[in-house]
Amino acid sequence: MLRVGVMVSGGGTNLQAILDAIDSGAIRGASIEAVISNNPGAYALERAKSRGIEAVCLSPKSFESREQFNEALLAKTDEYNLDLIVLAGFLVTIPEAMIQKYRNRIINIHPSLIPSFCGVGYYGLKVHEAALKRGVKLTGATVHYVDEGVDSGPIILQKAVEVLPGDTPEILQRRVMEEAEWKILPEAIDMIANGRTV
Ligand code: GAR
Repeated sequence: MLRVGVMVSGGGTNLQAILDAIDSGAIRGASIEAVISNNPGAYALERAKSRGIEAVCLSPKSFESREQFNEALLAKTDEYNLDLIVLAGFLVTIPEAMIQKYRNRIINIHPSLIPSFCGVGYYGLKVHEAALKRGVKLTGATVHYVDEGVDSGPIILQKAVEVLPGDTPEILQRRVMEEAEWKILPEAIDMIANGRTV
């Protein structure tokens, strides 16, 4: 059984998609051991608790320095003996020590077709605002391994989504979630749990 930890900062709809995929059998051979958030108000924590999954919050604000927060995040993560860490809307830079320790064992969902609209400053709604501003007709989502760069690790899965006339950033964000993110993130976890990816 692949032991999975999910890191979140917000609503947790991707976390929900993972939980639903485990229930339906779309993800086989994986269990969610913990959900970790940097944001005490993250609704994702409630989603975890209501399933009896350990929900932990570590806020950078309650530490004296970034280094102390980074150390605590790594120590907390280590407690769960995880095989895979899934960044599902986790908007905190992953400490370098964690990237090294969990090399090829951290994946991230990004709401665009990398290498478009990614890197420093591209997260959440900002990604969709930039896509609309540029006038692209196709966007989508990417699941990739996390390395030392920002959105630069090896790509596992991508799915394209159409941009439609009249789209607002919010409407486009929702379509990208429904048609791409909530599909390819569970699919990537199932692939990793069952040895179907490098
Ligand atoms: C998702 O759209 C995810 O792709 C994005 O944050 C949202 C989280 O939503 N992540 C990034 O932008 C990372 N660069 P959720 O909390 O409902 O899953």
